[in-house]
Amino acid sequence: MKKILLVGNGAREHVIAETLKRSPQEISIIAYGKAKNPGIATLADKYEIGPLDTFEQLKKLVAEEKPDFAIVGPDDPIADGAVDTLLEMGIRSMAPLQTVARLESSKSFTRNLLNKYSVPGNPKFKVFVDTKEIKEFIDNDLGGNFVVKADGLMGGKGVKVSGEHLHSTEEGTTFAKQCIDKFGRVVIEEKLIGEEFSLMCFCDGTHVVPMPAIQDHKRAYNGDTGPNTGGMGTYSDADHKLPFITDQDIREAIEITKKTAQALFKETGAEFKGIMYGGFIATKNGTKLIEFNARFGDPEAMNALPILETDFVEICERIIDGTLDQLDVKFAPKATVCKYVVPEGYPENPVKGKKIEIGKVPKEVKMYYASVDQKEDGIYMSSSRALAFVGIADTISDAEKIAASALSSISGKVFYRDDIGTDALIQKRIDHMKEIRG
Ligand code: AMP
Ligand code: GLY
Repeated sequence: MKKILLVGNGAREHVIAETLKRSPQEISIIAYGKAKNPGIATLADKYEIGPLDTFEQLKKLVAEEKPDFAIVGPDDPIADGAVDTLLEMGIRSMAPLQTVARLESSKSFTRNLLNKYSVPGNPKFKVFVDTKEIKEFIDNDLGGNFVVKADGLMGGKGVKVSGEHLHSTEEGTTFAKQCIDKFGRVVIEEKLIGEEFSLMCFCDGTHVVPMPAIQDHKRAYNGDTGPNTGGMGTYSDADHKLPFITDQDIREAIEITKKTAQALFKETGAEFKGIMYGGFIATKNGTKLIEFNARFGDPEAMNALPILETDFVEICERIIDGTLDQLDVKFAPKATVCKYVVPEGYPENPVKGKKIEIGKVPKEVKMYYASVDQKEDGIYMSSSRALAFVGIADTISDAEKIAASALSSISGKVFYRDDIGTDALIQKRIDHMKEIRG
């Protein structure tokens, strides 16, 4: 019996737990998170609730349980060195050490790394430690089309785009100043025009194995309007590509990921073990990198893992051992659509601590619990995404209908986007990319 420690209590960790449990190997899961996720609780052999921003309680649990290996799901504990702490106790993880996790936690680190090692995919960018030359860079070098990026984790609020959140060079400079005050540095870069896609890869430090390409929807409301969120929903196609991107776009994304893994090792002497999740954008000049994350995407994990056909436990072990190349990793040729149900007012003024009732969910729908807490009298939302519904079918259109069929089973102060994965929205992407490619 293998014992696996799973850190994190969101929908991403729920689907990770489910995928571990599908392994033909006998395993037990020791779960550790900030709240009781009812889905993980039914799959885990032990569930401990404790903080994720300090590791004392986690260390005590590890000393008692002595897991064979660990998976750390969320970005914050990874950036804070949870994997290093576990390694000091002799526990290896399918998640990166702090030094290579800078790939996500520091935008300037990643942009500089790509330039230093000639990895393609960077837009024009510059790192500033004061505001003196910002105006000139924005107006002259970038022609007024710019993005300001805080150099640390800000829960999805650290990036502002001109024309969307910033309406003048002055507004950009003011936000840049706030970022410098908080993190000492700010990245300002060219605003790229195209369609975004997520490409997550398993990485053992040397070898990189791609998962299906996925499109996330960051905006809160239908038609890609409203504030940015953690992601309101996602879809993937049966051929593991997306209807608006080409084979070449995906090849370029994989190449950028591979070369970045090599660059990380040269730069730090540490191997990246875990998930390299690139947020890419297909542009008229090829695939560019928006950002890297050092973990599974949420919701993207709910698209990729349910159709993973290879033993996930073996994948994790091979990532840890550096032998991922000896395994044929397969995903079922199925389309997937994931839709998130979130509290009213999310993300800016979400209702907090409200109860939700889950009625009859159609049996072909997969349901994953996210930021909810199971109490004696029912399930309560926190202030973030609450429940994810996933449909799996031969086409995106059918997968969408399956996921959507579950939405009416939820009652409470919630909302969701009903356009994700619909034919109309996908056609819009295809038309947009046609227009860009000319
Ligand atoms: P990030 O946290 O870097 O993924 O940025 C959040 C969102 O900001 C992305 O999903 C994009 O929609 C947008 N964004 C970030 N960088 C750029 C860029 N260089 N050009 C255009 N949009 C960007
Ligand atoms: N899907 C967005 C994220 O996981 O960061």
